Amino acid sequence: MCGIVGAVAERNVQGILLEGLKRLEYRGYDSAGMAVLDLQGHLQRGRALGKVAALEERLTREPLPGRCGIAHTRWATHGRPSEQNAHPHQSGERLAVVHNGIIENHEALRRELEAEGYVFTSETDTEVIAHLLERESRQAGDLLAAVRRVLDRLDGAYALGVIHAEEPDVVIGARKGSPLIVGVGIDEAFVASDPLALLQVTDRFIYLQEGDAVRLSAGGRIEVFDATGLPVEREIQVFEHGDGAASKGDYRHFMLKEIHEQPMVIAAALEGRLGERSALVESFGPEAEALFRQASQVHIVACGTSYHAGMVARYWLERYAGIPVQVEVASEYRYRQVVVPEGTLFVTLSQSGETADTLAALRFARERGYLASLAICNVPGSSLVRESDLTLMTQAGPEIGVASTKAFTTQLTALMLLTLALGRVKGLDERVQADLVTALRGLPGLVARVLELDPEIEALSMAFAEKHHALFLGRGALFPIALEGALKLKEISYIHAEAYPAGELKHGPLALVDSEMPVISVAPNDELLDKLKSNLQEVRARGGELFVFADEGVGLEEADGIRVIHLPHVHEALAPILYTLPLQLLSYHVAVLKGTDVDQPRNLAKSVTVE
Ligand code: M6R
Repeated sequence: MCGIVGAVAERNVQGILLEGLKRLEYRGYDSAGMAVLDLQGHLQRGRALGKVAALEERLTREPLPGRCGIAHTRWATHGRPSEQNAHPHQSGERLAVVHNGIIENHEALRRELEAEGYVFTSETDTEVIAHLLERESRQAGDLLAAVRRVLDRLDGAYALGVIHAEEPDVVIGARKGSPLIVGVGIDEAFVASDPLALLQVTDRFIYLQEGDAVRLSAGGRIEVFDATGLPVEREIQVFEHGDGAASKGDYRHFMLKEIHEQPMVIAAALEGRLGERSALVESFGPEAEALFRQASQVHIVACGTSYHAGMVARYWLERYAGIPVQVEVASEYRYRQVVVPEGTLFVTLSQSGETADTLAALRFARERGYLASLAICNVPGSSLVRESDLTLMTQAGPEIGVASTKAFTTQLTALMLLTLALGRVKGLDERVQADLVTALRGLPGLVARVLELDPEIEALSMAFAEKHHALFLGRGALFPIALEGALKLKEISYIHAEAYPAGELKHGPLALVDSEMPVISVAPNDELLDKLKSNLQEVRARGGELFVFADEGVGLEEADGIRVIHLPHVHEALAPILYTLPLQLLSYHVAVLKGTDVDQPRNLAKSVTVE
């Protein structure tokens, strides 16, 4: 939520900051702003309501040249989207602050500062930081010391970037609860919420840790200090995905590009993790085998799409590893009095590794006597990865579209690897393991074949463009896929969509079915197929229009009121992965027809780093 970028260089940084904001726009896009110290050392600021393009347009008219600056793209939490609430925030004419996160004690701080005569010009929580800094920088020896004094007063989560006319070639960054990375350039240095923001200038990054602060100064000098204020060395990591991730290439939207990357990234998620006839348990880390042997239960915690991946994993782990599994959304889990049976493995799933609720759940779990924590995550160096005992990276590469696509299918792939690893140590039949390994090896090819159905799915999407509601049905491990399909449709086309286990329909939702209600179902060739077919008849009998994605061998054919798209046959265990794709494509094409902002749907942001 919100994107930050900052730079100190020997050249004009306006273009670097602006490009950084464009690349961070997925994190929030209701307003944007930039502040620089110009060549005379004066603070200059420009802000605009709306997307980064509005700021860009303004900068064309009123440029902000300077060698040191900070910038921000906002996802509103405190105060509506407006130019006044846009960052950077100032106190007086000499300092500016950008902030990502939430300052929980901002009201008390605001009262304190107002009593001292500070005048607030925005409704944001961030402005207290600017005024506190103004106050502290009059007493502290330097800007970093002033920032430290301010941080001591803040409750909540933050990533900050600060500049001050007093130190015209310095940017201070700090993080607690929100991500911040340092970009290491040649004689120049940067901070940003995400490496993507800086790939145009460097591929070398330092992932700041909780409580770290950093001072960037002229000549590319980078000094990192830990939560106690002591200087520390943090490893420089090279970003391996290249800069292609930051561009749409020939695709109209990032979402479409990311959907089409799935054969490649699923293959990447499997690479080096499968033996001849079983999964390699050591992919989860050197201690994994010993810990997995002790695991008698699994608790999975995640949010949104990642939560749906966890729901699929419950079916897999119970069936193949014989282990009881609980799955819960992080925002609920973290406030429960959770009872943790001995030997329980705690698993978090997250694309970003920075989702505030998931991270808080992990921290909560650490106090609850779990056997160990495992993070299945897409972002190396993220907080979730750093704070977990075991990790498995999903290898999806950067995902820019707000709607999660390739992150989900690679999570599922990783979860199938977990199922096989746990199954292996728990004595899953070797033939079953070998069958699943063979099926996994064939998965990228099947995914590519499903993508070839795109024109058919695009044609189908026309039937949805004028609809206001939709129902998604699935059974067994395909029920979470129905939930994911409904989430995708809601998220990017703004059509109200619900998902039900197909057998549940007759207990209430069937009342909604009429000729205006499209019902979408996924029908692989599994043991629940006949039951699903009966449920679909219940819909047909009430005049509901059915859209079914079905295995080519199940004998479901087009008929009056039933549209069928056939998918290639897949091992029943992997059907949740394969059947996700047509639902992603359907939502995508419906959204395009409706003319919504596919990659940046209204009210949302990619990385939810606030509670
Ligand atoms: O980064 P995470 O996987 O932790 O994010 C969790 C959710 O915010 C995310 O999956 C969200 O639901 C997506 N926008 C769905 O497409």
